[in-house]
Amino acid sequence: MQIFKEIDSLRVHLQQKRNAGFSVGLVPTMGALHEGHLALIRSSKAATGVTVCSLFVNPTQFNNPSDLEKYPRTVEKDIAMLESAGCDVLFAPETATMYERPGVISFDFGNLDKVLEGKFRPGHFSGVATVVSKLFHIVEPDEAFFGQKDYQQFQIISKLVDELKFNIKLHSIPIFREANGLAMSSRNLRLTDEQRKKVMVLHQSLSDARNQLLTGKPWTAIRAEVIEGLNKTEELQLEYFELAHRDDLAVVNDVDPSKGILLIACFVGTVRLIDNMIV
Ligand code: PAJ
Repeated sequence: MQIFKEIDSLRVHLQQKRNAGFSVGLVPTMGALHEGHLALIRSSKAATGVTVCSLFVNPTQFNNPSDLEKYPRTVEKDIAMLESAGCDVLFAPETATMYERPGVISFDFGNLDKVLEGKFRPGHFSGVATVVSKLFHIVEPDEAFFGQKDYQQFQIISKLVDELKFNIKLHSIPIFREANGLAMSSRNLRLTDEQRKKVMVLHQSLSDARNQLLTGKPWTAIRAEVIEGLNKTEELQLEYFELAHRDDLAVVNDVDPSKGILLIACFVGTVRLIDNMIV
């Protein structure tokens, strides 16, 4: 695997690859890699000639300074994992390379960045759209791979690609879970063993709610019961548990099950976790 920290040398390398007839796949990450990230790398390898993974903890998408500071950084281990997954190129820039000076451009996605994550993390999606736009311009991938774990992020990036006419094919890869159902996340590294057991309740709540929705039980009743259960879980502080429309993420009380998605976010101690499940 070739590692680049600078934009210019990465561009030269990728241009050579394109000239030799290779297509380019991009997997943007913030590091602290796990099997979920590697599933994206594998999908890119299967679909494209050269797979580029970017590793950059993007400061502009953290609305909480302590979350940015505590974000796990495991670069050596990440490099070993990428090598073993057969990733071709790692782009790991310094913050000053991506942001030479504080930026003045921001993004507004209408309702899409005002609900769910957007409501609880103001400015987050503007930061995501900014850094993903930069990565798209630097790498100029033919295809880019994102996880369904961050469902709203994928919707935002789809809008970005559509409206700004990026000529990039996007892929959404299913959520990779641990055996107990917990969605893999870099932030899981910050959980104690005790907390790890408690957070199984996230996936359980999503699948219970989904099963009940499919029996025709009204969402408001399901939601109230599930929230009551979650509130009893020690150390767990719920931010939202919602049913939304799959396409525009409008939060609803009733939706054709074939068009619905359930989304949850909570704090466990100081660690913030999200998960979702298609109905
Ligand atoms: P990060 O949280 O590192 O995630 C990188 C990619 O891995 C995202 O597309 C995310 O949805 C995907 N991913 C994370 N956990 C997953 C899981 N359990 N199963 C499948 N895919 C999973 O998302 C970001 O970084 C950043 O916002 C980024 C897009 C890199 C912009 O900074």
